[in-house]
Amino acid sequence: MAQAESLEYDVLIVGGGGAGLRAAIAVYETDPKMRIAVVSKVYPMRSHTVSAEGGAAAVIKPDDSLDDHAYDTISGADWMCDQDAVEAFVNEAPEEMLQLEHWGCPWSREEDGSVAVRSFGGMKIKRTWFASDKTGFHMLHTLFQTSLQYDPIERYDEWFVTKLLVDDGRCQGVVAIEMATGRVEPILAKSVIISTGGCGKIFPFTTNANIKNGDGMSLAYRAGVPLKDMEFIQYHPTGLPFTGILITEASRSEGGHLLNKDGYRYLQDYDLGTPEAEPVLRSMELGPRDRLSQAFIKEQEKGRTLVGEYGHYVHLDIRHLGEKVINSRLPFVRELCVKYENIDPVKEMIPVRPVIHYVMGGIHTDIDAATPLPGLFSAGEAACVSINGANRLGSNSLTELLVFGARAGKSAVAFAREQGGAGASVSAQVRDEQERLSRLRSGGGSESIAGLRKEMQDTMEEGAGIYRTEASLASSAEKIQQLQERVAKVAISDSSLTFNTELTAAIELSYMLDGAEAIIHSAINRTESRGSHQRTDHPDRDDENFLKHSLAYREQGGPPRMEYHPVVITRWPPGERVYGQKKG
Ligand code: FUM
Repeated sequence: MAQAESLEYDVLIVGGGGAGLRAAIAVYETDPKMRIAVVSKVYPMRSHTVSAEGGAAAVIKPDDSLDDHAYDTISGADWMCDQDAVEAFVNEAPEEMLQLEHWGCPWSREEDGSVAVRSFGGMKIKRTWFASDKTGFHMLHTLFQTSLQYDPIERYDEWFVTKLLVDDGRCQGVVAIEMATGRVEPILAKSVIISTGGCGKIFPFTTNANIKNGDGMSLAYRAGVPLKDMEFIQYHPTGLPFTGILITEASRSEGGHLLNKDGYRYLQDYDLGTPEAEPVLRSMELGPRDRLSQAFIKEQEKGRTLVGEYGHYVHLDIRHLGEKVINSRLPFVRELCVKYENIDPVKEMIPVRPVIHYVMGGIHTDIDAATPLPGLFSAGEAACVSINGANRLGSNSLTELLVFGARAGKSAVAFAREQGGAGASVSAQVRDEQERLSRLRSGGGSESIAGLRKEMQDTMEEGAGIYRTEASLASSAEKIQQLQERVAKVAISDSSLTFNTELTAAIELSYMLDGAEAIIHSAINRTESRGSHQRTDHPDRDDENFLKHSLAYREQGGPPRMEYHPVVITRWPPGERVYGQKKG
């Protein structure tokens, strides 16, 4: 790995997944003279983008339109998204996807050789491009190999960022630990882009990899940038009960059925259409994720789910698709079921239950990926632009990381061109951070990292799950506040410098607690139900008082300060979300 000696760049990108790599390429495309660094706590091909399965949405077929994609996204989001951002997203999505094809992404094809599309939840037209059921893997490979062509893109793999450097009112770089040696270094830059993904590991049961701790969200939050719409947490309806491994929505788009313990397709009881009315896209198993996950809880309350070693579950049945279709369109689903559940979905039904999958909220950005802190940009799941509002539609996020990764790269170049050198207080901040990390590593505390993490995850599930109440949220808020205090006394027994993963786990825990605090307080203050945020004590959507984004600002030693920000409506006034045809 070639590195500049002074560790000084024009644009520095934190996070080497899809959004980060797309941003790095965009910086190079915009100005090949820019010095670019990508800092990532894992090797880029281990970023969580790699595990995305079902596909990426963009209009390509003649029966589709940009307005249809926009409308599906907006109604899916329960009108909480910014419509100017959604319009930019759907307009730029097809070009980004074709660009990826030219860079080598092996999109699956129709018989006639054109790009194949499949249906996806909440979309009324088939528009989800896919590469079998390993779409994220192929997209990440394509972006990574493309980035390798450009010499100015330097990489800091397995460097762990602990702080943003802010001086003179702008972000000027980061402090990071080189994990192989333990040395703590500043990496200075005129523009910084955060693309570190989401924070699903705040909850106990998730499709997310262990690395998804909300690092970038917390770094921005600590630097005074608000976290937007954090109350909106997505449960994916079909995870494997023990591991939480994702069974892609593509298995339902190919024709899979969700059955309760009586073998009944229960979704017909939840305003999601009927089996007789099929084929109707956006109905039954292809309804939006928030509605399907909520239906599961209702079935559980009615005693119509199955109960196993890992709790309640229902069945996903794909046996009728036949071995040939399963092998060609869903090979990864078969592989996962065989390896992790010891069942073959060609012959047996798959046990599934809702699982935390995605955070709609994130770092507050504008439509050009700029945060309120000059010089700091963000894209991908770490950011909230927002196009996902109260409920993201499956397959919009892979496309989002392309569109807004590219936008972040361009914005970062424009900003960097106008800046001079680093500010006066930067060296003192670096010294303080080096001392803080050294104190943390030398131990002395008594609290266990694993113990605190479990307490955090349990209280988040109890207080802020699929259904919430004032009481459940208040109790979790109190617990999170206590954990915030206890995390300062965490015990670190490993004092070594080389790959001290105990040290990084302690820092990740503190990042997750920041995210947990923002989620809980945003949810307490939103006294309505919308999309994935369901308050049983406030069951209705309340546009008059709550058609607005939540902004959580960090406050030292107490709960965040909540402010609100208008939702941008351009052409689609708030309406009813209608899926399929009603029963009867
Ligand atoms: O089910 C899936 O393949 C997930 C896709 C997504 O979250 O976009």
